[in-house]
Amino acid sequence: MTDTATTLDGPDLALGVPISEIADGAMVMGHVNGEPVVLARRGRELFAFDAFCTHYGAPLADGLLVDDTVRCPWHHACFSLRTGEALRAPALNPVLCWRVEQRDGNAYVGEKLGPPGPKKSSAVSVPQSVVIVGGGAAGNAAAEMLRREGYSGGITMLSADRSGPCDRPNLSKGYLAGVAPPESNPLRSPEFYMEHRIDLRLNTRVAAIDTAKREIHLVDGTREAYGALLLATGAEPVRLDVPGSDLPHVHYLRTLADGDALVGKATSSQRAVVIGASFIGLEVTASLRARNIAVQVVAPDAVPMERILGREVGTFVRALHERHGVTFHLGTTATSIDEYGVTLKTGEHLDADLVVIGIGVRPALSLAEQAGLAVDRGITVDEYLETSVPGIFAAGDIARWPDRLTGERIRVEHWVVAERQGQTAARNILGHRERFDAVPFFWTEQYDFSLAYVGHAERFDKAEISGQLDAEKHDCTITYSRGGKKLAVALVRRDLEGLRAELEFERAIRGEERKVVTR
Ligand SMILES: Cc1cc2nc3c(=O)[nH]c(=O)nc-3n(C[C@H](O)[C@H](O)[C@H](O)COP(=O)(O)OP(=O)(O)OC[C@H]3O[C@@H](n4cnc5c(N)ncnc54)[C@H](O)[C@@H]3O)c2cc1C
Ligand code: FES
Repeated sequence: MTDTATTLDGPDLALGVPISEIADGAMVMGHVNGEPVVLARRGRELFAFDAFCTHYGAPLADGLLVDDTVRCPWHHACFSLRTGEALRAPALNPVLCWRVEQRDGNAYVGEKLGPPGPKKSSAVSVPQSVVIVGGGAAGNAAAEMLRREGYSGGITMLSADRSGPCDRPNLSKGYLAGVAPPESNPLRSPEFYMEHRIDLRLNTRVAAIDTAKREIHLVDGTREAYGALLLATGAEPVRLDVPGSDLPHVHYLRTLADGDALVGKATSSQRAVVIGASFIGLEVTASLRARNIAVQVVAPDAVPMERILGREVGTFVRALHERHGVTFHLGTTATSIDEYGVTLKTGEHLDADLVVIGIGVRPALSLAEQAGLAVDRGITVDEYLETSVPGIFAAGDIARWPDRLTGERIRVEHWVVAERQGQTAARNILGHRERFDAVPFFWTEQYDFSLAYVGHAERFDKAEISGQLDAEKHDCTITYSRGGKKLAVALVRRDLEGLRAELEFERAIRGEERKVVTR
């Protein structure tokens, strides 16, 4: 993400700004009473709001105004200009709006307004209770959205994790690198769930669903009835089946408990072997290097991340890590792990006092399979995220949904998609019949390199780079297409272009819709 100064730049907006100097669709970064504020113009209307995104603090003035919303440049959260509400994840909290007055051709920003109040429920159907299986990105976003939409019935969120919903992307990045404190991990405090009457039960695993009786069975034998059910069980790391893979210095990374254990071990480690050269493996590698731990990466791939990002980007990423002192052992696999390190298929032994395995994840589908829901490499859901059994919804890493852009059913493992699906599923549980048609988005960060990816290209025959991607400079757009159709773009240091690409894909989806309607 592009670094931007967080100082009080720009004019004092309380003193007035000539409206003629603000172009339609433009934003002016300024300040009021020592607080950073953005003044934005849409046609004749002017809006003022807090300058920084409530997710990770991106400067919203570097984002994009779309209709009566502002979109965040870093991870594409979307806020209402009228109320400040965080309409789309990953931001969960609103930005505060400020009063704007227009007088004598000037705009004056006055006082800060309060947060948006609770909405009056406009639910079309109101289930007596909602049970959410999963306390991750999708489950948490769904529970919050039910309350935001004015739902007053019981909400129970059951999670097999030991801790409450946490910011998983942080676990392999800032937290592991030692630059983000433990307080940055929880998405919400325990008090938040109490205040919102969300009955969050941790260490609680669901064993089965009885769809006929509309109840779930917990592993401890208790049962829980549901009015509507959301499955958000996410994915589990694929385990490496080699001798020694259960030794205490061998780590996986999915939960906060995994993250804490890994950070604990990293503080006393000197040499690590990371098995797997995709996103988790390489983010972990970069974070361990930030702690000055020597890292060797082992993977069967010829080029890291080639399948998703293409050969050129993969080659760049490998060179990036090598410049940071990482050694790659590609085209091979680990055959065993012992107390002193990892043995490769080639017979070579790599010394390590820490081994991290990141060889992919598998969607947690056993509940859905047992309950007889339609499953096809994910839980099959319709455009409203409802499964083959009415009243049961699925969201996040487990859901395979009809993607409007490609016309294919897809399943992805992206934080923002999981949260947005949770939000849409919540509204549909309340009968809103809202199609899930958000454009997939994910990001990765390794050292000073960050990449945002918009769209979905499971297969592509062309990856075209425009701009520069080498040791000197990373500033480019990579366009992925198949059969001449643009499917996705990856952006390096081009935040605004990423937002415009998202908008272009959204308009393509709406255009397709119009064609269907008028046909
Ligand atoms: C270290 C790490 C870094 C990541 N970085 C990024 C990134 O930079 N960008 C990005 O886009 N994505 C990233 N991801 C992926 C992202 O975190 C996932 O896509 C997202 O968490 C999926 O959300 P989910 O709600 O579907 O599942 P999860 O967040 O995994 O939550 C699943 C929940 O279900 C619970 N559960 C499972 N089975 C049961 C059961 N039987 N009973 C009760 N509870 C159950 C689990 O305990 C958990 O609470 C990262 C993932 C990890 C692990
Ligand atoms: S910083 Fe705004 S969405 Fe992440």
